[in-house]
Amino acid sequence: MESIFNLQGKVGIVTGATRGIGWSIAQALASKGMNLILNSISNQELLNERINELKENFKIEADGFLFDVSEPNSVKECYNQIFKKYKRLDVLVNNAGIMKDALIPMISSEMIDRILDVNVKGVIYNLQYASRLMGRNKSGSIINVASIIGRVGNEGQVVYSASKSAVIGLTYSAAKELASQNIRVNAIAPGFIETDMIKDVPPDKFNKISENIKMKRLGTPDDIAKSVLYLASDLSNYVTGQVLGVDGGMLV
Ligand SMILES: NC(=O)c1ccc[n+]([C@@H]2O[C@H](COP(=O)([O-])OP(=O)(O)OC[C@H]3O[C@@H](n4cnc5c(N)ncnc54)[C@H](OP(=O)(O)O)[C@@H]3O)[C@@H](O)[C@H]2O)c1
Repeated sequence: MESIFNLQGKVGIVTGATRGIGWSIAQALASKGMNLILNSISNQELLNERINELKENFKIEADGFLFDVSEPNSVKECYNQIFKKYKRLDVLVNNAGIMKDALIPMISSEMIDRILDVNVKGVIYNLQYASRLMGRNKSGSIINVASIIGRVGNEGQVVYSASKSAVIGLTYSAAKELASQNIRVNAIAPGFIETDMIKDVPPDKFNKISENIKMKRLGTPDDIAKSVLYLASDLSNYVTGQVLGVDGGMLV
């Protein structure tokens, strides 16, 4: 079993990798020997710090690219660089995402555009370029970070839930289309995870959501990273087109 879990020499990319869930995922993959490409949008200094930390702690190759996942030319350039250096890609974790809440009358077209651009178009662009590279070796695992909100919805989250339902839908389609190339595509639907993303949730809403967590604790970024490890490794080599809820029982 240990060797199935070994990601030594493999190459992966994690979008939105500097903070929260993405950073935990990067550390988990690196701990199993995977060489990594990290992406984030706003802070080159933090990105450099993260890269150095991974190299030092896990003795892997690590590179970082600062770009907006919703910019197709930047995404393309990143994959060109991956091809130049490694000529292969084994894992894509489509993790970058943004959340903005608004009740229906307050939703603006700018808000719709931005959330769909990052959470949906960004996922599709990465999937597109990653699958081209993976297709060369007829092997790969793509893991899309969706959300429980994409499955059950939430007040004030019409736009965010639409974007995450789209991630689930495109995961099913991509799994069907890419299976013949031995590229697996799965989604993870986190519940309520302790990161910067939820720090501004108002206390009444926070309490209401927390009450629904059967395991009686918030999720941690590590909880999500462990499931990503499973989907990234050969432990899941016959699993595709699935949505794995990692939510402490919020749906039961
Ligand atoms: N936290 C939760 O409870 C929860 C629940 C369900 C699903 N999720 C999903 O899990 C994923 C990660 O969430 P999180 O809580 O870890 O978020 P977070 O703490 O806000 O971190 C977001 C990360 O994404 C990066 N990012 C944001 N927009 C980007 C863009 N346009 N291009 C490239 N990178 C971008 C950020 O980069 P900078 O550091 O440069 O800003 C940061 O590294 C998201 O898809 C989110 O929707 C989270």
